[in-house]
Amino acid sequence: MDHFQMRDGVMHVEDVPLPAIAAAVGTPLYVYSTATMVRHAQVFSEALNQLPQAPLIAFAVKANPNAAVLATLAAAGLGADVVSGGELLRAVNAGVSADRIVFSGVGKTADEMALALNHGIYQFNLESEPEAEMLSAVAVSLGKVAPVAFRINPDVDAGTHAKISTGKSENKFGVAYDRAQAAYAMARDLPGLSVQGVAVHIGSQLTDLAPLEAAFGRIGGLIESLRRAGHRIDVADLGGGLGVPYDPALPPPPLPADYGAMVCRVTAGWQVRLVFEPGRLIVGNAGVLLTRVIRVKQGVNEPFVIVDAAMNDLMRPSLYDAWHDIRAVTPSGDRFTANVVGPVCESGDTFAMHRVMDETGPGDLLAFMTAGAYGATMAGTYNSRPLTPEVMVSGNDWSIVRARQPIEALIAADSLPPWLAKEKL
Ligand code: LLP
Repeated sequence: MDHFQMRDGVMHVEDVPLPAIAAAVGTPLYVYSTATMVRHAQVFSEALNQLPQAPLIAFAVKANPNAAVLATLAAAGLGADVVSGGELLRAVNAGVSADRIVFSGVGKTADEMALALNHGIYQFNLESEPEAEMLSAVAVSLGKVAPVAFRINPDVDAGTHAKISTGKSENKFGVAYDRAQAAYAMARDLPGLSVQGVAVHIGSQLTDLAPLEAAFGRIGGLIESLRRAGHRIDVADLGGGLGVPYDPALPPPPLPADYGAMVCRVTAGWQVRLVFEPGRLIVGNAGVLLTRVIRVKQGVNEPFVIVDAAMNDLMRPSLYDAWHDIRAVTPSGDRFTANVVGPVCESGDTFAMHRVMDETGPGDLLAFMTAGAYGATMAGTYNSRPLTPEVMVSGNDWSIVRARQPIEALIAADSLPPWLAKEKL
């Protein structure tokens, strides 16, 4: 459920009409609903409340690292799953306590490991044997002990887009299932590491529970055999990946309650604390990208609706052929078929082709729905387009939580080499 509803013919976010925010802040901009993200955090937690041990629900910061989002979710009781030193610092700054932070990723550097050790995070999810060796050396040099799990690659096809699948043996992620025993034996003998768990994450936007269940089943088997080999396994991190509805015409992905029931069934008797790393599920439907139509241009078949948002603001359609619902903020009731494109000089700067949508013209506001996850966080400045601002709504209050980047700031970030700077004088 989300809090983007029509009232008197105008789309509102909670109690705030979107045109009011657009008029004050300009477009394009991201708008987030506090109530939606808090509700999703609660629904996910409730889906897991039958587990024998209270789980750690660590929001995948990469999905939306805005400080206001992280602070909202920290207050709602979520921890953080981070994949860089930057994300770690963002989570800590937003009020996530370090003992609720897990650190994933194949390329953690020694500096990032030291930062996380000094903060005292809950767990490092190691993705390879050389990473275990590096962490051991860093921990010893700091006089610390690093709590670790290995992320296991279960060789399961997540059935999602190839660019967001991570659990097949050919993917770069995790330690191969067949090598797991050897990796744990090696880590046990390394100083400065305390082996405490296992981790798995097979991909994102999963719309079927079967691959998750298959992966978790394999992890259950591994926990047993690791214990038989004398390892202490107290934690199992089951990752994120549950999909959200993007296209209202398609069957919705499994509900968190169905996911929770499956997890309870598959993990019964594991005797571990479970960790979850949901990202998209928490924030996906809590955000829209608001854009204004610049002009409508005739095409061969359908018109091109040229909007002031572009691929640099929302990469998902050009990167993954992702489908986002596009709705008029003040729809007339008429519909037409159109192509929706941005101003960037690439044909890939296309949000929708042959889309049956609300009829729209110059100056109209459009909302790209389900843009709260992997939206602003993946934005760039291609074509010298400044980063998009972000606004957070709560009830009838709203606030800018990231200001529009001034073009001057973008230009000032570069500097000239001395030989060119001199010429300029
Ligand atoms: N844990 C790990 C280790 C991950 O790599 C990810 C996402 C998550 C958790 C969170 O997954 P979620 O619950 O959000 O599905 N940019 C792509 C998605 C990339 C996902 C990367 N990893 C997109 O826009 O679809």
